Amino acid sequence: MLLVFNWKLNPQNFNQAVKLFEAMKTGSKKAKNSVIVICPPFEHLFRILNLGAKVSNLYFGAQDCFWENSGSYTGEISPLGLKTAGVDYVILGHSERRQYLDETNEMINKKLISALSFGLKPMLCLGEDEKTHFQGEKAVNSFLKSQLVQSLLGAERLSLSQKSNLILVYEPIWAISDNSGNLADNPADAAAAIKYLKEILVADYQLPIPKVLYGGSVNSKNIADFLKYPEVDGFLIGRASLNQQQAKEIMAIAG
Ligand code: PGA
Repeated sequence: MLLVFNWKLNPQNFNQAVKLFEAMKTGSKKAKNSVIVICPPFEHLFRILNLGAKVSNLYFGAQDCFWENSGSYTGEISPLGLKTAGVDYVILGHSERRQYLDETNEMINKKLISALSFGLKPMLCLGEDEKTHFQGEKAVNSFLKSQLVQSLLGAERLSLSQKSNLILVYEPIWAISDNSGNLADNPADAAAAIKYLKEILVADYQLPIPKVLYGGSVNSKNIADFLKYPEVDGFLIGRASLNQQQAKEIMAIAG
């Protein structure tokens, strides 16, 4: 099981970030069969990395990266730089970046290819809005396929070992806690969407063992319902990751 804790732009204070990190370290020791990835905002990420004391199943992720490693790109962060600093994972294409920063599939595609080329494990977020959701499964699948194909343009030219680092996150926008008041997707529906995405990865991208996570209002109360579905390889967890008790419970349940 892959458990990814997306802190988003939280907490504001570094001491709180350290406390949260310590809780995650403790929790990760109880989740021996899981890989735990912590994604703090950049202002905390590198400072926390420098605290050292790595736990064997705990890794770090960034919440974004650029497609170039150097040049006149004010404010951007390099994929190679992240890898060199000890960051192994990166979230790409999160719906909040698409919404607030106008990230397009074309930009996300460049970031994704670059991240894969430099040995990062990108976690590509895909998901439909509420309107598409209510149009039913066919509309959702067609939306997901189009997002996926545009994001993976050119990926067929990468080596199998580079491509194998790809992780998808099925994250319906309407199910993200800030948008829904904490209403997660129905686990059976989420599993069906994940199965569909996996079929495309196998058939069109020759990825023999595709990894797809679910994200959207996952917490310690509903995670067990999703764990019943073998299609679900893990979770991207936002709000619940900011609560030490919740985070520890989630890790204990995932095991
Ligand atoms: P949530 O966020 O768990 O708060 O819904 C998930 C995410 O957006 O990564």
